[in-house]
Amino acid sequence: MSYDNYTYDIERLVSMCGIMGYTGCSQATGILLKGLKALEYRGYDSAGISVFHNDFNECLTAKCKGRVDALKNKTDDLKGNTGIGHTRWATHGSVSDENSHPHKFGRVTLVHNGIIENYETLKNTLNVAHRLKSQTDSEVACALIDRCFNGNPRQAIIDAVKKLEGTYAFAVMFDTVPNTIYAVRNVSPIVCCKDDDGAYIASDIMAIGDYSDEYFVLPEFSVAEITKDGFDVTDFEGNKIDVKYQRLDWDIKSNSKCGYPFYMEKEIMEQPEVIEKTITTRLKDGVPDFSKDYVDDDIFKKCKSISIVACGTAMHSGLIGKQLIENNCSIPVTVHMASEFIYSSPIIDDNTLVICVSQSGETIDTLEALKYAKSQGALTLSIVNVRGSSISRESDNVIYTDAGPEIAVASTKAYTTQVAVFYLITARLAYVRGMLNFEGVTSFTRELQKIPGAVKNILDRRGEIHFLSGAMLSAEHTFMIGRGIDYPALLEASLKLKEISYVHSEAFASGELKHGTIALITQGTPVIALMTQQYLASKQMSNIKEVQSRGAEVIAFIRSSLDTDELDSTFVLPDLDDEFMPIPAVVALQLLAYYVSSDKGLDVDKPRNLAKVVTVE
Ligand code: M6R
Repeated sequence: MSYDNYTYDIERLVSMCGIMGYTGCSQATGILLKGLKALEYRGYDSAGISVFHNDFNECLTAKCKGRVDALKNKTDDLKGNTGIGHTRWATHGSVSDENSHPHKFGRVTLVHNGIIENYETLKNTLNVAHRLKSQTDSEVACALIDRCFNGNPRQAIIDAVKKLEGTYAFAVMFDTVPNTIYAVRNVSPIVCCKDDDGAYIASDIMAIGDYSDEYFVLPEFSVAEITKDGFDVTDFEGNKIDVKYQRLDWDIKSNSKCGYPFYMEKEIMEQPEVIEKTITTRLKDGVPDFSKDYVDDDIFKKCKSISIVACGTAMHSGLIGKQLIENNCSIPVTVHMASEFIYSSPIIDDNTLVICVSQSGETIDTLEALKYAKSQGALTLSIVNVRGSSISRESDNVIYTDAGPEIAVASTKAYTTQVAVFYLITARLAYVRGMLNFEGVTSFTRELQKIPGAVKNILDRRGEIHFLSGAMLSAEHTFMIGRGIDYPALLEASLKLKEISYVHSEAFASGELKHGTIALITQGTPVIALMTQQYLASKQMSNIKEVQSRGAEVIAFIRSSLDTDELDSTFVLPDLDDEFMPIPAVVALQLLAYYVSSDKGLDVDKPRNLAKVVTVE
C-alpha cells in the first residue's frame, strides 16, 4: 500500500445521504450511531442500522424517520460486531419508516447513497413489486443483488451493479456471510480506514476520522470485502487493487463549534478573517493577481461576454458579480440558475467566459452546466471552496475561496468569499482591458480591503441586530426592499431567512413593489429595507414611505452616511463606497436570520428538507 501526504478535502468526500459501516471486536451499534450522528448534517430525514446477529445468523435492523437520536431508543436488540447504518435525504419515496435504510430483500441487507435511474424497469424485470416494502430505488437494487447471489457475494454485487444506471455507494451485508461487509461505488463516495479494533467505512471522513489518521477512498467500480482484519479490494474482473492511503488533515478533521451553539454562528463570525485571506493573498502591489491560481490573463482579455452559472446562494454571489463587472468593465454579463442553464439554449461560444460558482464544487446542476459550456467551446473559470472537488477538476481555471470548511447548511462565509473573488476578478478584468489604470485599480482594492474591518464592526454590534430580530419572531411573511446592488444582496438575505427560520420572505427591487406586490402589505407587515446606495437614497426613502403608509413595520439597514431620523428601527452599517456595501449588508442580514431561527428554537444548522450538498438534479 502506498501513502500519500494529502490535505483532506472535506466536501469532496461528502454526498447527500450518510453511510456508515463497522466490523471488528467491539459491539457495532454504538460505533454506528456515533458515526451516523457525525453524518447527520448531510441528510436527516431518517436513520437506521443493521447488525449481524451471530446467534440468529442474520442481519437485524432498526430504522425510523427522524433524527439519529430517535433511532437510539430502538437499537437495544441489535447485538453483534458487524453492521451498517444510514442517514437519509429522501429522493425516491417519502420520509417514512419503511423508506428508511437499511433495506432487506431475501438474504441481502444494504444501505445506499445515490439514485438508481432504471429502478422501475428493474422492478418489472425482476417481478418483485409485490414483495417490496418501500417506494425506494434502493430496495430494488437490494432485490437485484439478492437475485444475482449464488453463494459468491462479490460476484453478486458486480453482476448487479452492471445492470444499474445512476449513481451509487452501497454497503451490503449477506445473511450467509457473517461479520463481513461489502462496499461498491459509482460517483457517490465511500472512505475506509482501520485501527487495531476493526475496519470502518463511511460516506464522509467526519464519521470515521476518530479511528485513524489514514484513510483511503474506495475507487469507483471496485468492490471491497471488509472484515475486522481489513479490506480486500478488487476491480470488476477480480484483479486485486492496491489502494492508496491518504493522511487526514487533523485541523480540518476537528469537528468543533468552538463554543458556539451552532456552526452557522461560528461561520458568520469567521468572516472577517476568511474574506481578508481571500483578498490579500491575491494582491500584488495592490493589483489583483491570479498567478498563484494559475489563471492566465488571456481569458480576461479574450472574452466578449460573461455567463455566470450557479445555484442558490452561489448564484446570488454571481448577481453581485454581474453588477460589479458591468459597472467597471463594460462587458455584458448574464447570470443563470444552473438547473435551467442547459435547457435554455444559452448563447455561448469561444468568446464567452463561463464562470461557475460553487461552495461544495459538487452541485450536480452546476457541474452539468460547466460540462455543457466546455462542449460549446467556452472559456471556463470556477470559483470553488472545496479543493479537488468535481467542478474544480472539470474547470479550465479555478479560483479557490479561502472560506475553510462550511458545515452549516445555510451558506454564509462561502458567499462572502465568493463575492470577494468577484471584486478581484472585476478589478483584474478592468485592469488588463485598460478600463482602470494602476491608480484606479489600487484605489478600488484599497476600498475592498476595508470590507473585513466593516464586517468585524457589524459582528461586534450583533446584539443590536439580535434586538431588532425580535420583531420578526412572530412574522409569517416579510418583504425585503432595496435598489441597485442592494437588491441582489437582499435576494441572498431573503433566502437565508427562509431556509433557517421558515419565515416566508420575498426580496424586491423597491421600485418594482408597487407593480402588484404592494397589495400584500397590510397593517403590521414586517418590511426589511436596505439603504446603502448614495445615488439611490432619496428614491429608496420614497419607497420606504410608500410601504409605511400602508401599515408596514419597517426595519431598516442603513449605511451610516445615509442615516436618518425618519426611521425608528434601524441598524447602521459602516460606511464604504456604494459598490462595496453588499458584503457588510448581507452579513448583518445573515445575523438577523440566525437570531430569528435560534430564538424560535429551530435547528439552525439542519433546516428541514435541506442538505448541504445537492448531488441530484
Ligand atoms: O455547494 P454550492 O455552492 O454549489 O451549493 C449551491 C446551493 O445549494 C447553496 O448555496 C444553497 O442555496 C445554500 N443552502 C444556501 O444557504
